[in-house]
Amino acid sequence: EKGGYDHFMLKEIHEQPEAIFDTFRGRLLSNEAMIKLAGVEDNMKKFLAADRIIVVACGTSWHAGLVSEYIFEDLARIPVEVEYASEFRYRNPVITEKDIVIAISQSGETADTLAAIKLAKSKGAFVFGVCNVVGSSIARETDAGAYTHAGPEIGVASTKAFTTQITVLTLMALRLARAKGTLSSSEFRHHLIELETIPSKVEEALKSDAYVQTVADIYKYATNFLYLGRGFNFPVALEGALKLKEISYIHAEGYPAAEMKHGPIALIDEQMPVVVIATKKGHYEKVVSNIQEIKSRKGKIIGIVTKGDVSVKELADHVIEVPETLECLTPLLTTIPLQLLSYHIAVMLDKNVDQPRNLAKSVTVE
Ligand code: M6R
Repeated sequence: EKGGYDHFMLKEIHEQPEAIFDTFRGRLLSNEAMIKLAGVEDNMKKFLAADRIIVVACGTSWHAGLVSEYIFEDLARIPVEVEYASEFRYRNPVITEKDIVIAISQSGETADTLAAIKLAKSKGAFVFGVCNVVGSSIARETDAGAYTHAGPEIGVASTKAFTTQITVLTLMALRLARAKGTLSSSEFRHHLIELETIPSKVEEALKSDAYVQTVADIYKYATNFLYLGRGFNFPVALEGALKLKEISYIHAEGYPAAEMKHGPIALIDEQMPVVVIATKKGHYEKVVSNIQEIKSRKGKIIGIVTKGDVSVKELADHVIEVPETLECLTPLLTTIPLQLLSYHIAVMLDKNVDQPRNLAKSVTVE
């Protein structure tokens, strides 16, 4: 059942090229320059009239929501707020009929997310679900939705659910961008063509596995890790840190790279591995200067860079390359080495990768 892999997590990491392909199959029609998402199409009026989108989710799904905030705002120019479902539901939030709530959940059974949906509905908002499990409670409770089609995810640490959630949300943002005219038809077409190449680029990113293992071996006894990213890749930094925490039990924190000098920089010394997402285009020069700041405090730098990078290579202790793509699609690639890094560290520390202590696959109690 693990398809020759030692763990479900590793199998699911390697399934991502196919899972992402399955997510856009029949929806992304690049020849016709179209995106077809029935749940969006059928409710286009509501989407176009919406004042804002509020995303509710927990854990990794919340991170996918944060990535989508950058994507929706950049491509479709719709304001987005991303909320922890558990906070939203108890905050007496301001919600109206002009709001669209997007609930993201792999399992479709997360108690807090389900309660947030019920609250939003009671205030008259239109609720759209992005779920993986077909027929799940959240899929049934929402007004419309789009499945991720990632296939079953067994490992407690979410991997392919995350990248396929980002894929669905990107399709939605592109469809709305086209309808609103915030992308020209040539830009739109260019995005479709690039998105179509992502499965093969993920395949290529997975080839860093052997090198990631050597990096994992060097840092497996570290007691703290920092993960930094900016823009579209700030949420990826949060996700990388969560992956490491939950399966290796190493303390890790994700930060927007520029926030470092507002506090966390005090933590940096020669013991501290800092994973920095530094792909080209994504505020690259600024991230390079953040890397210089870490280096001058003797932190160990693991850079996630675009293939062919020169500047970060000169500064970093290790660099892991991912293929080049559009800036808004980079999270789908930069996530891969971070998943592999946490996986290999957990295996080397002999932890229970697929069923980490204290955690359940779906959190059905609040
Ligand atoms: O099934 P959901 O997407 O609603 O689950 C949300 C979180 O419980 C989940 O993403 C959790 O954070 C994962 N263990 C992360 O790997």
